[in-house]
Amino acid sequence: MPISRRGFLTSLGAGGAGIAALPLIGARGREALYGLPPMPQNAPAASASRRRDRAMASTAGMIRIDSNENPDGPGPRVLEAMHSTFSESNRYPLQLEQALIDAIAKSHGVKAENILLGCGSGEILRVAVKALTSSDRALVNPVPTFESAANYAKFLGTPVRPVPVDRKLNLDLGAMADASRGAGLVYFCNPNNPTATVHGASDVASFIEQVGKSSPNTYVLVDEAYHEFVAKPEYKTAVPIALANPQVIVSRTFSKIFGLAGMRVGYAIGQPATLNRLSGWVLDSNVTQLSLAAAITAVSDRDRIATEQKRNHATREFTTKFFENAGYTVAKCDANFLMVDIRRDVRAFKTACLKHNVAVGRAFPPLMTQLRISFGTMDEMQVATKVFKAVLTEA
Ligand SMILES: Cc1ncc(COP(=O)(O)O)c(C=O)c1O
Repeated sequence: MPISRRGFLTSLGAGGAGIAALPLIGARGREALYGLPPMPQNAPAASASRRRDRAMASTAGMIRIDSNENPDGPGPRVLEAMHSTFSESNRYPLQLEQALIDAIAKSHGVKAENILLGCGSGEILRVAVKALTSSDRALVNPVPTFESAANYAKFLGTPVRPVPVDRKLNLDLGAMADASRGAGLVYFCNPNNPTATVHGASDVASFIEQVGKSSPNTYVLVDEAYHEFVAKPEYKTAVPIALANPQVIVSRTFSKIFGLAGMRVGYAIGQPATLNRLSGWVLDSNVTQLSLAAAITAVSDRDRIATEQKRNHATREFTTKFFENAGYTVAKCDANFLMVDIRRDVRAFKTACLKHNVAVGRAFPPLMTQLRISFGTMDEMQVATKVFKAVLTEA
């Protein structure tokens, strides 16, 4: 039987008795993990396995450090804004849509016409693929990276040009630029999920310039889902480039630092004519009334952003140190997750951790020994690292 999260954390305590004290999910409990509701028959294989993974992670009592979510959730001001908007649920959300667009525009110092809202930034990625690629205008996609754009391209029958990351897990920008000739769209995830690696502002600018010279009709989408977590001084947002260059779009999300993954809000920033190519493909009123209210408050809640940055920094240091002290190599990371080479198959490691109520990232082929771990609360990371230690020792 899965135990409650509170009970699980209490059973360990700060000076817990180690792995001997860790509860195991029994045989029946483990079966229950896989007893999920059926997927629609026509669901693509990738989303079926992602759904299975997420459903396992959401089992009661599980420490969920598998999906780069924010463990704290929305702050009190955001919750209050949502509560006070419940009574508006009978209205289509036109006014709040404009209010959110204005609030986002203000936060970036841009005009409302430079913003396109999405049902999560996932919708922005999809509509960019839909609008800017075709059967003879490929998508250029790093491997591994966040897979949504490539999965959708494959679903549409658009050719995908995969470009492996380099040995340090950085995007291979030279190879991506070569692959961009004649392509419709380049997906540039910075920081890259799942490798957590970050490219500095001059790398990004010269990559875009190079693509512009060798393939002027190719678009570049810079996905900055993890922007607020980056501390690397060379890094800068590509928003100014997107405002100046009609071939560039930046996407952002409320799912990470703002803790609103369940509310599904994201957006694109770019020139109005560029965004017009995408906007016809998004659903009218694609963000709900409550989500809009939440995001309007979240975007200006500077204290909450600072608190989350601090928590993330502390858990990142703690988790990185744990692996480095244990002799494992952590890729240079700047996000709310890290990638570490555990020198064994990630799938077996993940299954072993699940038995101890810790859900870690799945395997990201072809990097089958590289484990992605999202940062939970400090309490959660203390428990999780004990489990990691035990599982690594067992093997
Ligand atoms: C790099 C990246 N982009 C986009 C997304 C999609 O986020 P959402 O649709 O929740 O905004 C994710 C989700 O994990 C991600 O990692």
